[in-house]
Amino acid sequence: MPEFSVERMGRLEIWTIQGEARRNSIRRALVAELESLLARVSSDTSTGAVILTGAGDKAFCAGADLKERQGMAEDQVRAFLLALRGLLGSFERSDCIFIAAINGLALGGGAEIALCCDFRVAALNAEIGLTEVRLGIIPGGGGTQRLTRLVGPGRAKDLILTGRRVTAQEALEIGLVHQVVPPSELRNSAVELAQSVLRNAPIAVAAAKHAIDQGIGLELRDALEVEHRQYERVLKTEDRLEGLRAFAEKRPPEFKGR
Ligand code: COA
Repeated sequence: MPEFSVERMGRLEIWTIQGEARRNSIRRALVAELESLLARVSSDTSTGAVILTGAGDKAFCAGADLKERQGMAEDQVRAFLLALRGLLGSFERSDCIFIAAINGLALGGGAEIALCCDFRVAALNAEIGLTEVRLGIIPGGGGTQRLTRLVGPGRAKDLILTGRRVTAQEALEIGLVHQVVPPSELRNSAVELAQSVLRNAPIAVAAAKHAIDQGIGLELRDALEVEHRQYERVLKTEDRLEGLRAFAEKRPPEFKGR
């Protein structure tokens, strides 16, 4: 049985982790399947946005599959983490936009998956936690770095060193999620958000995403150089000319992603 169900709505796909009974935790097969899903959407432009969510109403993803982990030797854990780190980096390298629709608990690696998405929308009942220190480990899928970039070192230490979970409301207050909605509205809210991105020029959206992601942590001068390189990418596009034509003709633009 596949680890994900995949629905397609035009240029949007919804990927749902199908592991409700194990709280959608991450086993090796899930990493492998997510790698191939990511490779597919990143190598062709027909998908502009992906919503990631978990089956059921209890968990988005409860982190690494701790039952599978129990049988793993040190080297196997290392290999798993290497694969997970590479996988999560692919979200950022992709031109696609990723939205985590957090439908319940997002713990450990589950929170790390949400952190490498471009947007996080949470259901009111969601809770997010980088709980690894409670298990004698630390976040190994980029959590210590991505959470810090998002909420600052003080709040990141609060969450990671205590291992506590934050409610959706607190996550909203500290900027960890963008939006909190009743559970019944989660899917529609994520779809609306995706559509508000998808109506824009695809290459411009990707270039803006990379300008922001690649500029973080650089000196301003270098970060502005990153922006400049991404601007060069849109300068050459047909869509830029279409944007100008549509403005002059007082009509909505019809972008082609070229
Ligand atoms: N890996 C493997 N199985 C998991 C899991 C995980 N990370 N999280 C939950 N499950 C399994 C449970 O073992 C249980 O399976 P069982 O029915 O065979 O006993 C099932 O999912 C339901 O979990 P349960 O604990 O009964 O449900 P709950 O809703 O009361 O609690 C959690 C859910 C997620 C809070 C709790 O299971 C938990 O703390 N899990 C570990 C989460 C964690 O530490 N993640 C970080 C990993 S680095």
